[in-house]
Amino acid sequence: ALKGVSRSHKISDSGPHSKRLKKRERPWVDVSDDELHVKRAKKGTGDRSKNLNGSPSKPSALESKKKAKIGHPSRHLANGTKQASIQEQRRELPITSGKDALLDEIRDNDVTILIGETGSGKTTQVPQYILESGISGKGMIAVTQPRKVAATSLATRVATEQNTSVGGLVGYSVRFDEASSEDTRIKYVTDGMLVRELLGDTLLSRYSVVIVDEAHERTLRTDLLLTNLKSIQKTRNAPADAKGKGSVAKLNPLKIVIMSATLDAEKFSKFYDNAKVIYVKGRQHPVTIYHTAISQPDFVDAAMRTFFQIHTDQPPGDVLIFLPGQEDIESLDKSIKLYADRLPKDSSGIVVCPMYAALPPGQQAKIFSPAPQNTRKCILATNIAETSITIPGIKYVIDTGKCKEKRYIARDSGTGFDTLLTKDITKSSAMQRAGRAGRESIGFCFRLYTEESFKALPDSAEPEIRRCALSSSLLQLKCLGQDLEQLDFMDKPDWEAIASALKTLYLLGAIDNQKHLTKLGRDMAVLPLEPHLARAVVASQECGCTLEIIDIVSVLSASSKLFFDSTDEREAAAEARRKFRHSSGDHMTILNVVRSYQEIVASENKSGRKEWCKKQFLNDRCLSEARDIRDQLREVCVRMGVDWRSSCGDDEQPVLRSLVRGLVQQAAFLQPDGSYKQLMGPSIVKIHPSSSLCDKKVPAIIYDELVYTSHIYARGVSSVPRKLIAEVSVFKNKNIG
Ligand code: CDP
Ligand code: MG
Repeated sequence: ALKGVSRSHKISDSGPHSKRLKKRERPWVDVSDDELHVKRAKKGTGDRSKNLNGSPSKPSALESKKKAKIGHPSRHLANGTKQASIQEQRRELPITSGKDALLDEIRDNDVTILIGETGSGKTTQVPQYILESGISGKGMIAVTQPRKVAATSLATRVATEQNTSVGGLVGYSVRFDEASSEDTRIKYVTDGMLVRELLGDTLLSRYSVVIVDEAHERTLRTDLLLTNLKSIQKTRNAPADAKGKGSVAKLNPLKIVIMSATLDAEKFSKFYDNAKVIYVKGRQHPVTIYHTAISQPDFVDAAMRTFFQIHTDQPPGDVLIFLPGQEDIESLDKSIKLYADRLPKDSSGIVVCPMYAALPPGQQAKIFSPAPQNTRKCILATNIAETSITIPGIKYVIDTGKCKEKRYIARDSGTGFDTLLTKDITKSSAMQRAGRAGRESIGFCFRLYTEESFKALPDSAEPEIRRCALSSSLLQLKCLGQDLEQLDFMDKPDWEAIASALKTLYLLGAIDNQKHLTKLGRDMAVLPLEPHLARAVVASQECGCTLEIIDIVSVLSASSKLFFDSTDEREAAAEARRKFRHSSGDHMTILNVVRSYQEIVASENKSGRKEWCKKQFLNDRCLSEARDIRDQLREVCVRMGVDWRSSCGDDEQPVLRSLVRGLVQQAAFLQPDGSYKQLMGPSIVKIHPSSSLCDKKVPAIIYDELVYTSHIYARGVSSVPRKLIAEVSVFKNKNIG
């Protein structure tokens, strides 16, 4: 069987449909033969590859039977039968056999570290075991996830396993969305949400067990939690006499479970005073790995060609393609659908399912439900499908070798900035990705990079705390009375990044020149927003335009962009947008869009809204998400005693004044030569072509972000009177009015 794969993965005319397809209709023959020549990976490249390619135990008869069930359960089973099948799936997970031993360890130890192959049942089962065993007592169980979409989909799955609907016994809580009630005992939360909960409940006293999942990802929030949990546990689990008499004495002890899919558990164990590490043996079938002979600069195109080769030449089995981000996923989605239409009528069908962090919950179900008869499912995912979620039915993995990485570029002036760039993955990611193909039976992984490139990859990623902006976390820690510089972290953040965050918070007025938290800073921290946007909302109270600022900030906080940068219909898009344009620039333009959208929402149903957005070249997903965010922010305002209804009508001055307060570090002045120079940094910037101010020369601008291409572009730009900038207290002594 392997011989066949090796041959047919070459770009060749030998596919089953080649005779029937005219040459120019075949997407994958327009390249030379050697361009994507694939050879088998040598055994023993890297530690884990041995593991995957080695000879793990053959699947038993039981497992093969199960494969059919997990991979393709009938969608039309009666409810009772479906529940029975789900319970059977649960029983057959690798973790089931270790259940009692695991519970004994958790009962006996304050901290337990659990390592297990992706798909062994850690995330879905361990919380249920703990609940059913009574270990959690009266308290709740929190399970943290680095990503929103994983938290919501896992909660839904576990609720189904408990035969309830999500929001009851099993709930979730992520930024701008929550489903929980008084009955909730297991709560899937993003790591960021749990850090936020610390602000209101510094000892997390509602929880008796906190499970830190996907710990190997080492997100900034996970690291903050690991640090805080350690000290919380010291307080809560101290012997009764040491706790004294106060309220602390009544506290229930805290159990911590750290779960990870990778083997480097030593570091976690050391951090938690040599905590016990438990391994669950996963069920991993051999995966054959292929590399390309030469590198593939256009990885989206290479992924498409590889997919169609699999589709036309290979036996049934779903395909999982790893891509860096949403844009690449959307573009590949489009081209696969386009070419699928050109396949002969009698070829088997294709369903394409995207999966990325910003995917709306409604669209997630498609990924887990089996494809119809005679159809191949093709999942296009970011690294979320590496370990966070297990998708059944995958036999083929196509790995582009790319991911997006957040990185903060610190600068002496304090005006650092975040970048989100596509970059090469790590060896550890590559092995995880390959492993996804061997969950249910033998699998195949096609790497769209050479074996030499693989060998040159770094072993594992740098923890986020070493490469991300810290201002938001620093503010939260200040509210907890903690100092970033003095905390006990697994990896300490860079001094430069700390200095930069301190400077940002100082310029926003969140801390004073003694680095003490101000009243303003405390107010800002209550808002679930980036500090600069939170500052604008707080400023809007004084300026009497909270209604408007919340509308704008909600759009800026949504996970997708408001305007499509459509290249095909640029003219039509510009024409459609013209009516929303405001002379002051992009922020007021956003407000005009939101106002028009609100009128449409009042008069049209969902499909009418979508239709309207399409006509205006607006992203309806962004607008509807922004509405949810807006509602959340209004609720927070009510709790803070802020009147979110205060409005400035059509006067843009108060809106710009509030925005300037938040965007102090994102301002630039016009130079005699027509370029703009940053007020608080060294860079010369241009206004981005997508901006409504693109070819205008105005004395001063503020902007949402910088984009680095051939030039440094400012995106999301408004023209502001210089005097508004001069009003900001930190500039008072400078002569810029
Ligand atoms: O956390 P870990 O990777 O060890 O496994 P898990 O997420 O608990 O997944 C255990 C099993 O549940 C997998 O085989 C998944 O296929 C299944 N599952 C599912 O069918 N639907 C979901 N939404 C989540 C998990
Ligand atoms: Mg998991």
